[in-house]
Amino acid sequence: MIDIQISEKPISQHITQCRVIIVEQDFNFDTALKPFVQELSVPLPALIKASNFTGKMMSSVSAPILVNDTISYLLCIGIGKRDAQKSLSIETYRRVVGKIIRIAEQHKWHSISLQLPPAQWFGVDDLYLAQQTAEIAKIAAYAFDQYITDPERKSHIKEMVVAFHGHEKRDVEDGIARGKQVAHAVNSARHWIDLPPIALHPQEMVAIAQGIAKENNLKITVFNEKQINEMGMGGLSAVASGSERDAQFIILEYSCGDKNAPTLGFVGKGITFDSGGLSLKPAEAMETMKDDMAGAAAVLASLDVLSKQKAPVNIVGFMPLSENLPSGKAIKPGDIVTFYNGKTAEIKNTDAEGRLILADALSYAEKHYKLDAIVDLATLTGACAYALGPYFSGLMSQNEELVTKLMHASAKSGDTLWRLPLTDDYRPAIQSAVADLANIGSKRYMAGAITAGLFLANFVEKTPWAHIDIAGSAFNVPDLSYYRNDGATGVGVRLLVQLAMNWQK
Ligand code: BES
Ligand code: MN
Ligand code: ZN
Repeated sequence: MIDIQISEKPISQHITQCRVIIVEQDFNFDTALKPFVQELSVPLPALIKASNFTGKMMSSVSAPILVNDTISYLLCIGIGKRDAQKSLSIETYRRVVGKIIRIAEQHKWHSISLQLPPAQWFGVDDLYLAQQTAEIAKIAAYAFDQYITDPERKSHIKEMVVAFHGHEKRDVEDGIARGKQVAHAVNSARHWIDLPPIALHPQEMVAIAQGIAKENNLKITVFNEKQINEMGMGGLSAVASGSERDAQFIILEYSCGDKNAPTLGFVGKGITFDSGGLSLKPAEAMETMKDDMAGAAAVLASLDVLSKQKAPVNIVGFMPLSENLPSGKAIKPGDIVTFYNGKTAEIKNTDAEGRLILADALSYAEKHYKLDAIVDLATLTGACAYALGPYFSGLMSQNEELVTKLMHASAKSGDTLWRLPLTDDYRPAIQSAVADLANIGSKRYMAGAITAGLFLANFVEKTPWAHIDIAGSAFNVPDLSYYRNDGATGVGVRLLVQLAMNWQK
């Protein structure tokens, strides 16, 4: 956990273990580093020359400083060159902030201070820059280390002071506060995802949701497996039938106080462990399947921060939760299930379980709520992960207005989306000879991410709807400095928060 403070004091006077300055490539030495020249043990110009440091993106140089007989460090980190429009991308800044935290970890520094760069570099305002700074620093500092007993392997970073100069104080304060809230939610989602499947079953997700509901005064409804069966949610029932643990269906409602404000529905896939069921996964593919509730985690965490930030829209979160396990009671290939809206599907592969539980949740959402839009998040298909890799979530929708809103939210929040074509041409792929639908696409059509999306499309009739496949982006994302190579990313939280906060703009 890292605490973030702000300070108007010049960074050269800070007493943290490391003072960090971000510089542009071919920066002006005098203005950027002059304040430190006297305190360094070696002449700074010589050091920078010797290390060939020019400020290239992600390059860095550090040197000890002696102040009042105590050694601390100066770290200069490059952000690269501005483009033709004279600006740097905010994503570049996020990666540099992430890198700073990684360097701090290597040195086991527990406190650092960072000089906030000018917002003009990125063509953004002070509030947004401050928000991104706090958000990314906290995201980068996240560690899932509760099961690690060696103290040397635990995270050491405890404090970051953001020094600002020439920025609007109110905006910096506001931005930092908001960024901390968003990052807290992102990190909560990551924590629930990273918890081993023995520590997080559907029941534990319910307990977490109840805590969040209580803290933020949200309305919560929880259906247990018996009620799910009785209600006719045949998809969720079928998936849950192999597990000893009860399935759960959580509905969490945030009201902004205005009944006439738009209402958004967020739906998250909540498989707390996906073995594949009787269509068992190979061992290696199963290794990361505790992440199969990442959609539900993102929905729950985003509702937490959106109620704290008093989002100007009403929001309803829907989280169908179950394990997917084989047993004598498990559903079998060849079984036919009837969903909440009355449609039927032939189960050809019990590993295509996400669409079964989402089908019920989407039908339920549309039947019982008047929603202006529905967005679902799901670790739905390996096909999507193969198509886009870890750096994009797959966006599928036939509603252009909603796509535009989501693409804006994606660009601003940093949760990157890439659109896949959800065209009806692929619908024949999920036809079944014995039921309305088949739960896997016919091989001839390939496009496994899209055929899964089209399966879901059968369960939203009139509401603007978008499906986001996060199978590739939710877990084990390599080489992004503000994530770790291993573990959950909390993808979707930043996106949903941005979408809801700016829905009416
Ligand atoms: N949870 C998986 C999808 C997944 C794969 C998520 C890799 C994260 C990383 C999903 O339930 C699944 O098993 N999908 C199958 C569908 C297939 C049987 C049509 C898949 O993608 O292999
Ligand atoms: Mn599966
Ligand atoms: Zn799954």
